[in-house]
Amino acid sequence: MSYQVLARKWRPHTFQQIIGQEHIVRILKNALELNRLHHAYLFTGTRGVGKTTLARLLAKCFNCEKGATATPCDTCKNCIAIDAGRFLDLLEIDAASRTKVEDTRELLENVHYQPAEGRYKVYLIDEVHMLSGHSFNALLKTLEEPPAYVKFLLATTDPKRLPITILSRCLQLNLKRVEASQIALHLQHICTSEKIAFEVPALNLLANAAEGSLRDALSLLDQTICYCNDHITQKETEQMLGSIEQEALFNLLQALFNQDGAQLLAEIKHLSEYAADFQLALEDLLTILHRISIAQVIKDAPDHSPDIEKFAQCFSHEEVQLYYQIALIGRRDLPLAPNPEQGFEMVLLRMLAFKPVNINNPPAAKKIISPIKIKTKTETAPTLMIDNYNWAQLLPQLELNGLAYVLAANCTLKAIIENKITLILSTQHSAMCNKKLIERVEQALTRVFKKPMQLDIALSTDEIDTPTKQQQKIKTDRADAAKEAIKNDEDVRKIVDLFNATIDINSITAL
Ligand SMILES: Nc1ncnc2c1ncn2[C@@H]1O[C@H](COP(=O)(O)OP(=O)(O)OP(=O)(O)O)[C@@H](O)[C@H]1O
Ligand SMILES: [Mg+2]
Ligand SMILES: [Zn+2]
Repeated sequence: MSYQVLARKWRPHTFQQIIGQEHIVRILKNALELNRLHHAYLFTGTRGVGKTTLARLLAKCFNCEKGATATPCDTCKNCIAIDAGRFLDLLEIDAASRTKVEDTRELLENVHYQPAEGRYKVYLIDEVHMLSGHSFNALLKTLEEPPAYVKFLLATTDPKRLPITILSRCLQLNLKRVEASQIALHLQHICTSEKIAFEVPALNLLANAAEGSLRDALSLLDQTICYCNDHITQKETEQMLGSIEQEALFNLLQALFNQDGAQLLAEIKHLSEYAADFQLALEDLLTILHRISIAQVIKDAPDHSPDIEKFAQCFSHEEVQLYYQIALIGRRDLPLAPNPEQGFEMVLLRMLAFKPVNINNPPAAKKIISPIKIKTKTETAPTLMIDNYNWAQLLPQLELNGLAYVLAANCTLKAIIENKITLILSTQHSAMCNKKLIERVEQALTRVFKKPMQLDIALSTDEIDTPTKQQQKIKTDRADAAKEAIKNDEDVRKIVDLFNATIDINSITAL
């Protein structure tokens, strides 16, 4: 017999088997016993806490041949068909895959036909927030005046994305994350029934890592059973959780290397399925980046894993340094984020956004035009000739002031390709790189170039030669020259000799 994953094998078929969610079970049982049934229920809550399970169970309660009941018999034709997923009057729609209005319409059109074999015709719409606007309208129409034999069971992880018109027509049931202690006991029960030996602390670890999701807990248990060979020990469980996380972190680095935002977000979602602690995940990411950085300077160190070696070659030194810095600051700020997953996501997205550029050694794959001629189409537009490092000449023409000027003056020009201009900013000044200032510089560029310009700012850990630095250098050069001139001035010398005076060199400044 093929192996059935635990989450499916252990899907509850009765209210007694539901772990947690006591408040919901109570409402539903009472409604069934008093025969006060609503025509539309909306199950909400995070993933894997029992939304679909409860909705199917309710469909069985509605249709058991014993009568609408809180204790379906599980032996009648209808109960068996529902448990096997082949009951004609239970229409399951996964809105995540059927979002087109025709699909929903097609299903809802049949609403006026009586149930084929059961008491109620039950529409179970999973991930209902994914329906398109038109589909919502089709659903809404039916929800307004449903025939007495129709029940709607809607489920979503994201009720905020449902129109108020739908929300107001449903009885909303909010499922909670399940307590770790309850999950741990459930895992113990499953292991005992499956004849799998275990150490209690190992199952506690899994329960904690699942963060309230029973589905996550069960899929972690599946993996642990494979890893530990039917005897689940604490030590091996720790190792396994660590190695899953490690693998996920390497996948994140791969997504960064590919500059693939969608892949990055998917990997974070995957990581969130078992990483109970994003603070720890960031710490581990820092350790990995540190090891990569070491591997970049010491070749063939014995403790380098192939993954570390690979990334040591994929990334430039600057990239690793920058990612480290971003992770470090991200770890500090994580407690300020609305929730740790969101904070972690932003840290990684920041890494994706700020790719440092090494000016001395630009990546070969990217075309950089130098010197750059800006061609303009209209006769009146100025033809600017700018070489790669002549940002200082262009800057005054932008007529910027305030912080936008400070930002631009601390940048250097990397390339202008068509209407896209890339500047480089030292990571030291990265705090200035905010959207508002970038927009102001962009507007000024648009005005000077007389066409819409798009500005990209890349961060670099290298020393860069910016207008600000050039001005500072001019100032210090002038001050040095002034100092020299005063020291060598005939009259000054005479005064020094005559009065046995000293010159306070630091009081000499240049204008
Ligand atoms: N409250 C619960 N009690 C017992 N088992 C549960 C519970 N919630 C989830 N499970 C287990 O997790 C599996 C998946 O649950 P279910 O499909 O009901 O989750 P869901 O809330 O619909 O998740 P999703 O948002 O991902 O659709 C079930 O088959 C069952 O094994
Ligand atoms: Mg579900
Ligand atoms: Zn039955």
